[in-house]
Amino acid sequence: MKKLNVLEEVISVDNGNDRIYVTDGGVYVRDVTLNLGIGDEVMVAHLPDVHFNYCNLDDYDEGNPVVLSTGANRKWLSNGASIPKLRNCLTIVDDADGHVFNGDTLDYLSKGAMYLMDKEIWEKVPGAMATIGGHERAMQMQGKVSETGTIEDRYKILEKYWPHDIYYYSKLIKNKVMVVGYCNDRAYITPEALEKFKADLEKCRANGYYMIMFAHEPVATQNPDHKEYGIDRVLTEGDPSGSPWNFCDGFILGGSRGDATSKEFYDILVNSADVIKGMFAGHYHNDMHLEINAKLPDGTETVIPQYISTAVAYGEGHVMRILIK
Ligand SMILES: [Fe+2]
Ligand SMILES: [Fe+2]
Repeated sequence: MKKLNVLEEVISVDNGNDRIYVTDGGVYVRDVTLNLGIGDEVMVAHLPDVHFNYCNLDDYDEGNPVVLSTGANRKWLSNGASIPKLRNCLTIVDDADGHVFNGDTLDYLSKGAMYLMDKEIWEKVPGAMATIGGHERAMQMQGKVSETGTIEDRYKILEKYWPHDIYYYSKLIKNKVMVVGYCNDRAYITPEALEKFKADLEKCRANGYYMIMFAHEPVATQNPDHKEYGIDRVLTEGDPSGSPWNFCDGFILGGSRGDATSKEFYDILVNSADVIKGMFAGHYHNDMHLEINAKLPDGTETVIPQYISTAVAYGEGHVMRILIK
């Protein structure tokens, strides 16, 4: 992992294994180190919440009133203002072994936003992985015209557009670390995702690989201290909307929502702390570290670290480098 020029230290916690600073280019960088004794180094870049807000000529040609009304009324990051921030971040992580764009990459489902994702992500970062957030499957985002189709209709568009499975996708890096990107939108897991997850865990156990997992939203921690968790300025300045949140067992995977498949996925997850060594999320536009109460397969109680990153789209850009040693 390359050394960066530090302009200002922001915070360093967990014995320096979770450190945030500003580079001389004004980009916020958060370096998280997982010391697992893998006998090698793997670096994964975490890039949640890019929020491409853009309508192009194809949107105007198609004339979908829902999308065009959003394009006219949604001002935050309009006209693709995220681009320079993302480019700054990508320069910092150009030596990463893997890149995960962890949801809300599209600010809303427009052809213009997908065009920007093609140009700035799929074409520039070969092998990139991207999860789905709540924004990807919305066409109305402060627009005055209500959605006409269903969420499922919009998922179908995303399934066709995305270069990989949007519900569960995994990649093995350097024969050491399995990187998983899955969709936990509305706390639901598909039956196919559950089967793929079980197979990957078996593969990890059989071969001695570790797993790190990415989804747009964090999972329930089952820690009562997280029941009313205020999220303004946890580690860095962020968006406090809706705070405090219930990260213990609230409206997230493993909390108050989800069907039997989703509950099974979560149960397996929290009982696989021998393999799963880190969970990573975005969505809250804040930097946090909220450990999940978990167990080893023999029942021993432990925790799985869960890191929540702020948005790429803030300031000159924010990016997390995960170093697994
Ligand atoms: Fe977001
Ligand atoms: Fe989100």
